[in-house]
Amino acid sequence: MARVLVLGGAGFLGTHLTEHLVGLGHETSVADNLSCPGSAANLEWLQSRLGSKIVFHRIDVRTDHSRLARLVDSTDVLVHLVGESRCPGVENPRAHFETNVVGAFNVLECIRHSKRSAPAVVHVSTSRVYGRLVGVGRHTNGARTYFDDGRAGIDESTPLDFSNPSGCSQGAADQYVLDYSRTYDLDTVVLRLSNVYGPHEYGRPTDSWPARLTAAAISGGPAAMEGDGRRTGDYLAAEDLARVVARVVENVPVCRGEVYNVGGGPASGYSNLEMVELVEKLSGREIELKFVEAPAGEPDIYITDNTKIGRHLDWHPECSVARGISNLIRWMSRNAEAMRAMVSRPAIPAAEAVPLRA
Ligand SMILES: NC(=O)c1ccc[n+]([C@@H]2O[C@H](COP(=O)([O-])OP(=O)(O)OC[C@H]3O[C@@H](n4cnc5c(N)ncnc54)[C@H](O)[C@@H]3O)[C@@H](O)[C@H]2O)c1
Repeated sequence: MARVLVLGGAGFLGTHLTEHLVGLGHETSVADNLSCPGSAANLEWLQSRLGSKIVFHRIDVRTDHSRLARLVDSTDVLVHLVGESRCPGVENPRAHFETNVVGAFNVLECIRHSKRSAPAVVHVSTSRVYGRLVGVGRHTNGARTYFDDGRAGIDESTPLDFSNPSGCSQGAADQYVLDYSRTYDLDTVVLRLSNVYGPHEYGRPTDSWPARLTAAAISGGPAAMEGDGRRTGDYLAAEDLARVVARVVENVPVCRGEVYNVGGGPASGYSNLEMVELVEKLSGREIELKFVEAPAGEPDIYITDNTKIGRHLDWHPECSVARGISNLIRWMSRNAEAMRAMVSRPAIPAAEAVPLRA
C-alpha cells in the first residue's frame, strides 16, 4: 500500500478520490487551503466517515513551501488536484496563474528537492488545454453538435491551443509537469479531464452542467443555459474518476511520463439541451432555463477518446450517465439544506455548515 497525498483533497474530485483510496487501503493524507466554497463541508464529511484513517494538513500551495516540502518527503505518490478553474474568477487571470502555475511549480520543486527518493506526481489537468479545437471540423444537426469526420473523440495527439486564462494557466502547469519528467527524470503522469459530475457538487455556476440542472430541478430556480444549448460534451461520474486515478496511483511505472485524456467517452456524449431532457426525465421535474451568452474560448463539442488510458490500464467508465445522474439527484435531494446554505453563504465556515449526508 502506498502513502498518498491528495493536494486539493477537500474539493469535489478530492473528496471522491480520498474516500476511494482509503477504501483500497492506502495511507492517505489530504492537504487543502479550504478556499473553495464547499471544501470545508467536504472535509468535515470525510473526517466523519473516515475518522483517523485520513490526516488533514491545511496548507496553501502558493506560499507554504517548507510545510509542503515536509509532506512531500513522507509521500510515495502525490495527486495534484489544486486548481482555480472551478472557483469563481475567470475574470481574474492572476488568481488562475498563481494557483495553477505557481502552485504546480512549487509542488514540482518540492519533489525535485525531496530529501528522500522523489515521490511520483499524478497531475490532474483539463481538456481545456486543447482550446477551441482549431482545425477539427464540426456541424450541428437537430439538438446537438457532431465532428465532421465522424471521429469518436479527441485523443492526445490533438494540438494544444490555450484559449482563455483558465486553459492557459492549466496548460502551462500541464507542460511544466511533463518537462519535469524529461528534464529531472521525475515520475509524473498528466490526466486531461473533460466533464466530471456527481455528489459533492452544489449547483454553483462553476459546477458541471448536470449538477446545475439537478440543483435547479430540486430548488425550482432557473438554470443558466450557455449559448443555444447545442454544445456537446461527454460526462464522467466522479466515482469512475476516483477509480481511474487510483489505478494510475497503483501503476506509476506503466504510466510515468505519459499524458492521458480521461472522460466519459462517446457513450456519455450529450448536448446541453439533451442533458436538460435527461435530468427532467430522471427527476420528474420541469426545469426553467435562462439563456445566457456562451463563455469565450470553449469548444462547441468535446468528447474524450479514452483509447490510450484504456489500453495502458485496462480502464473504462462503468457508471452510465443515467445511473450517475440518478445518484446525483438522490444526493442533492438529501443535502438540499446544506446546498442552499452553501450557495447563499459561500464562505460558510466548517463549524457552521449543515453537515452533509451520504
Ligand atoms: N471537476 C471537473 O469536471 C474537472 C474537469 C477538468 C479538470 N478539472 C481539474 O481538476 C482539479 C480538481 O477539480 P475539482 O472539481 O475537484 O475542483 P475543486 O475546486 O472542487 O477543488 C480544488 C480544491 O483545491 C483547493 N485549493 C484551491 N487553491 C488552493 C491553494 N492555493 N492551496 C491549497 N489548496 C487549494 C480548494 O480549496 C479545493 O478544495 C482542478 O485543477 C480542475 O481544474 C476538474
